[in-house]
Amino acid sequence: AGADARIEVFLDETIGHISPDIYGHFTEHIGGVVYDGIWVGEDSKIPHQRGIRSALVEHMRQIKAPVIRWPGGCFADSYDWRDGIGPAAKRPRRTNFWEVDGDLARLKEKGAQVFEPNSFGTDEFMRFCKLCGAEAYLAANLRSLPALVFDQWVEYCNSPVGSTTLAEMRAANGSAAPYGVRFWGVGNESWGCGGNFDPKDYASEFRRFTTWIPRYGVDLQLIGSGPSDNDTDWTHAFFDQIFSGPHAYHNDQFAGWSIHHYSFGFMRDKATGKVEQSDALQFDRDGWYNLLNDCASLETIMNDHWATMEPYDPQHHVKLVVDEYGPWHREGTELDPTHLFGQQITVRDALGTALTLDVFNRNAEKILLATNAQLINNINALFLAHEDRFVATPNFYVFAMYAAHQGADAVRADFAAPNIQYTANGKQANLWSVNGSASRKGNTLTITVVNTELDRPMETQVALRGASAKEAKAETLASSDMHAHNTFADPQTVMTKNLSCSITQGGVALTLPPASVNRLAIELT
Ligand code: AHR
Repeated sequence: AGADARIEVFLDETIGHISPDIYGHFTEHIGGVVYDGIWVGEDSKIPHQRGIRSALVEHMRQIKAPVIRWPGGCFADSYDWRDGIGPAAKRPRRTNFWEVDGDLARLKEKGAQVFEPNSFGTDEFMRFCKLCGAEAYLAANLRSLPALVFDQWVEYCNSPVGSTTLAEMRAANGSAAPYGVRFWGVGNESWGCGGNFDPKDYASEFRRFTTWIPRYGVDLQLIGSGPSDNDTDWTHAFFDQIFSGPHAYHNDQFAGWSIHHYSFGFMRDKATGKVEQSDALQFDRDGWYNLLNDCASLETIMNDHWATMEPYDPQHHVKLVVDEYGPWHREGTELDPTHLFGQQITVRDALGTALTLDVFNRNAEKILLATNAQLINNINALFLAHEDRFVATPNFYVFAMYAAHQGADAVRADFAAPNIQYTANGKQANLWSVNGSASRKGNTLTITVVNTELDRPMETQVALRGASAKEAKAETLASSDMHAHNTFADPQTVMTKNLSCSITQGGVALTLPPASVNRLAIELT
């Protein structure tokens, strides 16, 4: 009684195992992600490990990065993996879809690298994964290459030395040991840049691309190109073609169905009356809540798709894969003009990322993996880098806090707190003030909680059902300035700090600062 928010945790009600893979990252050949972000080159003065930025690797290890998706995105469906292997000097230069789509003349003017040099290919990417301690998730080109070239990419990555010519090539390129890549995306956004298919035609292509892929003893996890946002028609028509009738498809390796959900925070500008994508740094109270609500809507999208898939796959062999998500702001805050889709990351984005990770934890039984778009110098980045400068954004600290959930069992937690009213596009809207997720690993209970209230600290009581607290520690990422972000000059403006909490009869009490992401670690008796 008397608290602003209550969290009731039911320790005996397990939702599902939280796969570490839902804490993954996405990297695409676009703007400053690969070149300038990950890859600084083997002759660089910037600290690197054979061309790969050392500071990035060190930070990836700190957050226990489990899986990294590459090479796209839309880029994947124009990419030929064969261009990116072998001696660097002999690799061809190719058109990069994004630089062209992003207006060649304008990019040239900005000094952007307008062609893909292929300096960073499969072997460099696999080395990056290994340095980070992460698994690879490769996206195959279904739009502009035949299925055989996909088979051969699997063969290059996974066939043992002594078996195929491609295995010998891989060994000559530095890795005698097979890479054992499990996760394969079969196309990307096949409703759009990945071929403009209708769902039935995509389903036929998917059948062709995924039948009889060489396994080499690897438990392949094939991921179909699912909808944008809540397009359940796409999902319904695909699953109908795949799983219905006398010619239904059987393939245990079909393990995931991808969903892309970007939060554009569209709002009517009060001055101009035009509906605009959000700005990374300039927004008001309504813009704060509107963007966070957009992020939170992913839970409905996941639930709707889960329900759409159920009649076709009642055991849910195919799980959800959210391999592109995050707030996507309009251009103008990129660090360098050549960083297409680069944007600043404020504490608002950190809350959007945290509440998304809570959605994943709360739906642990439904989700195979997830990758935030994108890792560095891009949409919802954890890092910004340019030449020799590097900074961790508030999103990095969120991933560091939430790493405690990896591999734990999600348990039911009910959050009770007042809703917040705001106005978006001329309408009243509301969003919860406090929400989060809980997981248990042995005797440790981790609770992560987001407080979206901009001005109000929330006194919170945590009630434990099924165990009691022996010890509790809390930390918070918060700012009194909703626009706060980290820069090269001020890299620690937004970062994690300790938060006080106390053990009460039946649980724990703490006060969540306004605009905050919080983690509570409770030792149970
Ligand atoms: O992340 C940027 C782009 O957004 C990706 O290439 C594409 O899949 C999506 O439309």
